[in-house]
Amino acid sequence: MSDSKPHAVLIPSPVQGHINPLLKLAKLLHLRGFHITFVNTEYNHKRLLKSRAPNAFDDLTDFSFETIPDGLTPTDGDGDVSQDIYALCKSIRKNFLQPFRELLARLNDSATSGLIPPVTCIVSDITMSFTIQAAEELSLPLVFFNPASACMFLTCIHFSTLLDKGLIPLKDKSYLTNGYLDTKVDCIPGLENFRLKDLPDFIRITDPNDSIIEFIIEGAGTAHKDSAFIFNTSDELEKDVINVLSTKFPSIYAIGPLSSFLNQSPQNHLASLSTNLWKEDTKCLDWLESKEPRSVVYVNFGSTTVMTTEKLLEFAWGLANSKQHFLWIIRPDLVIGGSLVLSSEFKNEISDRGLIAGWCPQEQVLNHPSIGGFLTHCGWNSTTESICAGVPMLCWPFIADQPTNCRIICNEWEIGMEVDTNVKREEVEKLVNELMVGENGKKMRQKAIELKKKAEEDTRPGGCSYINLEKVIKEVLLK
Ligand code: UDX
Repeated sequence: MSDSKPHAVLIPSPVQGHINPLLKLAKLLHLRGFHITFVNTEYNHKRLLKSRAPNAFDDLTDFSFETIPDGLTPTDGDGDVSQDIYALCKSIRKNFLQPFRELLARLNDSATSGLIPPVTCIVSDITMSFTIQAAEELSLPLVFFNPASACMFLTCIHFSTLLDKGLIPLKDKSYLTNGYLDTKVDCIPGLENFRLKDLPDFIRITDPNDSIIEFIIEGAGTAHKDSAFIFNTSDELEKDVINVLSTKFPSIYAIGPLSSFLNQSPQNHLASLSTNLWKEDTKCLDWLESKEPRSVVYVNFGSTTVMTTEKLLEFAWGLANSKQHFLWIIRPDLVIGGSLVLSSEFKNEISDRGLIAGWCPQEQVLNHPSIGGFLTHCGWNSTTESICAGVPMLCWPFIADQPTNCRIICNEWEIGMEVDTNVKREEVEKLVNELMVGENGKKMRQKAIELKKKAEEDTRPGGCSYINLEKVIKEVLLK
């Protein structure tokens, strides 16, 4: 029993790229003496339990997982399938508040019996804005967690500016490919030199009513300008954008990159606790052991990217023809409409040069000395995890904030090169070689290592992110 501890309830958006970074924040708060309740959907929690040892979540002290239903038609939960994001967004708005309220009441009931401390604050994913009401009803402090970049947040809050300027909606779908997306966006301070194609895809819409944007900006929009926000970035990594945002939202606390923060946190008893929804194949770490330093390209397109077999084959032959070693994570549901078919010709060609697995412990892989480059879809987690490992990137952005992240990686930080959307094997071969053994690769690696050091400085005592974490705890969570 630990009734004097503050008790934070953390609720992520129920998708992999939002759950993982919020778990990192939960670990940091736990290290600072908080009792933690981490809220998953029942569906996701079932998947978590299925992909690890039955007792994996037992014996956690002052840390527990709780679940609420996702309100979607029940699935049997035995397929490693991503849920329909649009259906999920709708359901969150319609169905999540009541079970969340009930959960908070249950937790407080347990607290009256002395089993756990009463709930003292809520940390909510920025897209889960129903939590505002729940927090108000119990007069609890609430902080929004933005798992994406500050830049992405800035683009979202300027959705109406883009509409007013007539830059969006696009007249029709042909505007996606007729060169219009090269138009400069010069109406958003902080995003100088950005083109329409660098904005999140849900902003470059053809119909303003047919977009996920409303859902995504709801947190920021519904929240008062003096609501508190935690970002997984640092004041240094996205300096200009954070400066612009701070004038409008004075309570933004950039405490990232969270990976670097945790890497430097001694006595992290929860270090091995993970929320990967797919079963991790750890054999790839043994395979990496047999490879030379910086000799392997790591290829992973995250949890939501899908592609046609044609595109997958372009990547496959580009990698094979590059003659570089590669570790490629092909999720069971990566290929649209079917299972993966790689020919015996391909397998003979790559022999022991390439290893394919279904899911891996990404941060361990990225930090393995054998990894020399990362071919990525530019999810913000993958981006920041790559920085924290000092690994340069090849970027193939797919959806959401990924084009924006790609722009930052390639143009602001200069630690990556972009692969054309319409990927061709010759280009993959050329860029992989440039990344691994070319002059550009060398320069990008050097810059990636410098950013890694910067991230370490930001997240160690005295660094800007470290100070911001202390501040948000004192000014918001313990208020
Ligand atoms: C989604 C969006 O696509 C992304 O753009 C947004 O910024 C966050 O939500 P996702 O596509 O899954 O995320 O990509 P990413 O942000 O990179 O997150 C994936 C997470 O899963 C990372 O933490 C990564 O380490 C982990 N992962 C991925 C693994 O541990 N193993 C894998 O094999 C693949």
